[in-house]
Amino acid sequence: MKILILNGPNLNLLGHREKSIYGSRSFEDYFEELKQDLPALELSYFQSNTEGALIDKLHEVGFSDYKGIIFNAGAYTHTSVALSDAIKAIEVPVVEVHISNVYAREAFRHKSMIAPYCKGSISGFGLESYRLALQYFERLKPKQIGFGAKN
Ligand code: DQA
Repeated sequence: MKILILNGPNLNLLGHREKSIYGSRSFEDYFEELKQDLPALELSYFQSNTEGALIDKLHEVGFSDYKGIIFNAGAYTHTSVALSDAIKAIEVPVVEVHISNVYAREAFRHKSMIAPYCKGSISGFGLESYRLALQYFERLKPKQIGFGAKN
């Protein structure tokens, strides 16, 4: 089962950036652990700091044989109509994830533009937010996912 993990702006700095909030581990390191722990999932990973590149990736994967997209849109979560339109447009279901508990932080982080178009949202479990999202897909029976089963 193919799953894409998509990370948005500044998430390339994990391990260096605001360690008290985001931890001291790089995503590349964590991604290797996920691949080892979840061999039934064919995981791929893409990160960009650019809104257009994230939209292009959603379009590329969103009509394919991928079963899901785990998306941490970073700060674009709170601002991007274009990303929310892209998620709304595609067929492959998207699960929103955040490393930090966005609801325990500044008020501007409490609003997600993308949440209404995602299957669900996971926030506040550190990097393990990604694993929780992956477990959703791992546990689904094949007939429960695929085209037309977005919501
Ligand atoms: C984040 C939360 C966002 O508010 C922030 O802009 C990020 C990371 C998280 O994973 O906790 O860049 O998406």
